[in-house]
Amino acid sequence: MSKISVSVVGASGFAGGELLRLLLFHPHVEIKQVTSERHYGKFVHKVHPNLRKICNLKFTGIGELEECDVLFLCLPHGEAQKQIDRFTSLAQRIIDLSGDFRLNDAQSYKRWYGHPHTRPELLSEFVYGIPELYRSKMSRARFVSSAGCNATATILALYPLYKEGIAQRNSTVTEVKVGSSEGGNKVSEASHHPIRHGCVRSFKPTGHRHLAEMEQELSFGESVTIHFSATSIEMVRGVLATSHVFLNRDLQEKDIWKIYRKYYGNEPFIRIVKERDGNYRYPEPKLVTGTNYCDIGFELDAQTGRLVVMSAIDNLMKGAAGQAVQAFNIMHGFAETTALEFPGLHPI
Ligand SMILES: NC(=O)c1ccc[n+]([C@@H]2O[C@H](COP(=O)([O-])OP(=O)(O)OC[C@H]3O[C@@H](n4cnc5c(N)ncnc54)[C@H](OP(=O)(O)O)[C@@H]3O)[C@@H](O)[C@H]2O)c1
Repeated sequence: MSKISVSVVGASGFAGGELLRLLLFHPHVEIKQVTSERHYGKFVHKVHPNLRKICNLKFTGIGELEECDVLFLCLPHGEAQKQIDRFTSLAQRIIDLSGDFRLNDAQSYKRWYGHPHTRPELLSEFVYGIPELYRSKMSRARFVSSAGCNATATILALYPLYKEGIAQRNSTVTEVKVGSSEGGNKVSEASHHPIRHGCVRSFKPTGHRHLAEMEQELSFGESVTIHFSATSIEMVRGVLATSHVFLNRDLQEKDIWKIYRKYYGNEPFIRIVKERDGNYRYPEPKLVTGTNYCDIGFELDAQTGRLVVMSAIDNLMKGAAGQAVQAFNIMHGFAETTALEFPGLHPI
């Protein structure tokens, strides 16, 4: 079988580097070009030292991109929509990791991103990138827009509960704790080591843009409000989303088990983590580092009807590059787990 030729735009960034780590070991992929403006002409391993002796490509400029089968776009917010016509003329299929094409609705985009979308007519052509929700649409898609990392962790945790209608629609409170790589590789005062090190910093108590994705995917035709806050903690990779869900009926833990099993029992990358005892009773971001897993656990406070759901992902994997490769596999009819089998490290 001939290989699929892919190019990665914005390959010097954190998400782009992670994508290269996966694609270099994908048996059906040949990486054609990788772009960086700042590192133009340099070998990839100068920026991604983990790929030394594995990747002998050099970065090229975005203006030198040639035709290929699939373009992965790992550009900062706003860049993909600016150049989308050129990208679609170069590749039959596009997987965009930015927030540019995640929302279906141009009004919602304007509200959350603070400016009008430059190509609103294209929003409906992108399939929202969570494979567990849109596998069938994805298999026929030309364009996929990977979901936000915090949105992925939260939506996967809440989706079965909202779909089954057992959660009160407007009272779920989700708090995510996130690692520093979420912010990308650009240096800023907030990411400067003496400032960032050791912090537990509330950086978005309200108004996080990923809320738009959560409400889009959890509404099922009726309005829904998720109360969402994000906190940076001392971690490089990882998201732990803790959701407090107030149930609208009397249920027991075994009922919640049943629901999660129904939705995720056959999912290759979702694991229900809930043990009675031992160290590993609930999901932990550290244990999914480098993997494409989303671990989900829960505990019901039967006195109050509050269901606490924890979900853990690696933001650069299930929250970005891993999810994108999973979508790529589905779009091409490959086994969904291809190039994503890494089980993580323990201890780490
Ligand atoms: N980090 C995460 O956890 C995560 C998770 C999910 C989704 N995402 C999304 O994925 C995208 C990439 O994120 P990241 O964390 O990898 O960011 P990053 O580390 O800052 O990398 C950005 C990449 O885009 C390139 N770039 C920047 N401005 C450009 C421009 N004007 N024209 C062309 N290339 C440009 C950079 O290349 P140079 O070398 O030229 O600077 C770099 O390769 C973002 O949209 C982000 O929201 C990130």
